[in-house]
Amino acid sequence: MPKLIKLPGLIDPHVHLREPGATQKEDFVTGTKAAIAGGYTLVLDMPNNPIPTISPETLQGKKDLANSRVYADVGFHFGASSKSIQYFEVIKDQVFGLKVYMNPTTGDLLMQDDQVLEKVFSAWPKDKPLMVHAEGDTLQKALGLAKKFSNKLHVCHISLKQEVELIKQAKEAGLNISCEVTCHHLFLTDQDKEKLGSFGMMKPPLESSDDQQTLWQGITDGTIDMIGSDHAPHTKEEKLGKKPAFGVPGLETSLPLLLTAVGDSKLTIDRVIELTYTNPQKIFNTPVQENTFVEVDLEESYTITNESLQTKCGWTPFVGREITGKVKKVVLRDQLVYDGQNIFGPYGQVLS
Ligand code: NCD
Ligand code: ZN
Ligand code: ZN
Ligand code: ZN
Repeated sequence: MPKLIKLPGLIDPHVHLREPGATQKEDFVTGTKAAIAGGYTLVLDMPNNPIPTISPETLQGKKDLANSRVYADVGFHFGASSKSIQYFEVIKDQVFGLKVYMNPTTGDLLMQDDQVLEKVFSAWPKDKPLMVHAEGDTLQKALGLAKKFSNKLHVCHISLKQEVELIKQAKEAGLNISCEVTCHHLFLTDQDKEKLGSFGMMKPPLESSDDQQTLWQGITDGTIDMIGSDHAPHTKEEKLGKKPAFGVPGLETSLPLLLTAVGDSKLTIDRVIELTYTNPQKIFNTPVQENTFVEVDLEESYTITNESLQTKCGWTPFVGREITGKVKKVVLRDQLVYDGQNIFGPYGQVLS
């Protein structure tokens, strides 16, 4: 028997739509179609493109490219670099957050110079999320800077027990801090690495089941505020090459995995809504989408295949996974944009 329920249009604070500069992996059309098929009606795009989003011109360029081509609403994050600090005041109302890359990952935005980091944390407006890619011990440094400069800190893709504990302590100490976890860290561990090969390689990497248990604990006790897909598509060729790129797609598998976990009593539907809608909406202050909802069937079971995906990369680390919970319908501002099979549009908006 189908068990249909309605959810709000979900919000993903962390996606890489890859346009401009890496449209062999994804573009605004395919990336936002993947969002819609996954139940996301609003996504926030990261700045680590080959030509990064670190100036008013590159930001406007992205908006112009996305305009009238997006199936979901799309907003943007700005990139931190020594050269982009001068633009913070000019662009702050046109973006949802600042992204600071404190460890090596895809792209060219690594920042490790303490003096430049201090300038970034001190110059970014205190009421807007300052998002960090800060793994393990680097998180200590980010927390210290955020404390010193009273930032609204958002920690991306946490994966380690140590990180959950640090964030819990920081919250107890009264810091203005939020964090996200990806579904690959919630549903895969280092045990899956052998089978997946480079299709299981991402930053931060898959960790132990002990770390994973702490993430689930953080989901339950409220230390973790939201799910971010970190949708980071790369082509199969890039993954199979000599120096495989880090990152995995996630927009189309996150909600199905979470619904499956609801069926397994690992979390409640109310908590899923907080993690994928209420908290990202509040923390990133995204506009409310009127007459927008997602209908899911909590009972429908199926196996994830690569062929059914909208993402241009055409693969997922969750291929073959048994799922119970299907997106049946997505409505954006009274328009049917997904009927469980077909996508209609583009009806998305570029947010500023
Ligand atoms: C991301 C990418 O490919 O853009 N890769 C990843 O492994 N997560 C960058 C990032 O989010 O660190
Ligand atoms: Zn039933
Ligand atoms: Zn990252
Ligand atoms: Zn990312």
